[in-house]
Amino acid sequence: MKAAYVKHLGEVDEILYGDLPEPVPGPTDYLVEVSATSLNPVDTFVRSGRFPTTAPLPFVLGRDLVGTVVSAPVGASLRPGETVWCSSLGYDGRQGSYSDFAVVPADRLYPAPPGTDATGSHAHRLVALAHPATTAWLGWFDHGRLIPSDTVFVGGGAGNVGTAAIQLAASAGARIIASSHPRDFDALRAAGAEVVLDYRDPGLPAACATAAPEGVDLVWDTSGHHDGDFLAEVTAPGARILITAAAEATTQLPLGRLYTNDVSLIGFVMSRASSEQLARAAKGLERFLAPGTPNSLTTTITEVLDLSEAARAHRIMEAAEVRGRIVLTP
Ligand SMILES: NC(=O)c1ccc[n+]([C@@H]2O[C@H](COP(=O)([O-])OP(=O)(O)OC[C@H]3O[C@@H](n4cnc5c(N)ncnc54)[C@H](OP(=O)(O)O)[C@@H]3O)[C@@H](O)[C@H]2O)c1
Repeated sequence: MKAAYVKHLGEVDEILYGDLPEPVPGPTDYLVEVSATSLNPVDTFVRSGRFPTTAPLPFVLGRDLVGTVVSAPVGASLRPGETVWCSSLGYDGRQGSYSDFAVVPADRLYPAPPGTDATGSHAHRLVALAHPATTAWLGWFDHGRLIPSDTVFVGGGAGNVGTAAIQLAASAGARIIASSHPRDFDALRAAGAEVVLDYRDPGLPAACATAAPEGVDLVWDTSGHHDGDFLAEVTAPGARILITAAAEATTQLPLGRLYTNDVSLIGFVMSRASSEQLARAAKGLERFLAPGTPNSLTTTITEVLDLSEAARAHRIMEAAEVRGRIVLTP
């Protein structure tokens, strides 16, 4: 089969495209024919070794897939021919999804939502949403303990995670203040944000505090641009702050102003989610991932590239030139 893989972790030049033996599923694994995979920032972290994880060499890159079941383990709930998705390959010893075929443990493969075609635009949309939507679900419901009466702040609201986070929080009934570049204000309002603020504006903390005089209950700057004074100024007593990005940042925090207000910092990374957490998220996300419903999440796919262009896709991602998602098709 064709695959995009590395023989050594390192720079983009390590990515090879060529033939590897078709993977052999174990007794509790599915074999899936991949129709689409996508590029996540974390793919570049795994490839470079910046995110330490077990990566058996040669190592096929890639977290997410949409595809079709080829073979199923005994007693499995999904049958050959079913359209499926996964968002947790390519780390912790599992090979990735940048290949014609992938082995997926039974507890990490989910049925595609009703109405999803295995190929074409449906598959591209589903694979583009798999990672950011799962992150948004885990952030709000597993880690952030979002409740309908919460006022939330979503930074990086026009990003992949930010847009999914706004849409999920809106459907949960939360009041949403979000930041983005002004060119994206309309999109953020359409996603469900009540108040949209320019992330470049030095008056952002004051504008946020004016929009939420009682304070914000849950703050999630999905872009990782956390500013300590902003956090202290906008948070309500007992607020939670989610931290999920900016791996190398060393932000200064006014600790006294935070702890004397009972504010909690909650970090998480999707890579540490258990298969049970991910399966719960997949179930919860079903109506949001289904195409053509009032709940359908939106995504921007900037390019659909052939899998043989995986190295180019990584270069584009590392040059921070992506505003949306790159989908790769075998
Ligand atoms: N912890 C986890 O489990 C997890 C999971 C998924 C992703 N992540 C991380 O989360 C981050 C976001 O991922 P993503 O896919 O959503 O990225 P993305 O699509 O590139 O979104 C980032 C957003 O941040 C905005 N932004 C840029 N500078 C900003 C600033 N100073 N203040 C506020 N917003 C600003 C960007 O706006 P412009 O377009 O205007 O520049 C963009 O909309 C990445 O670092 C990724 O590695 C973590």
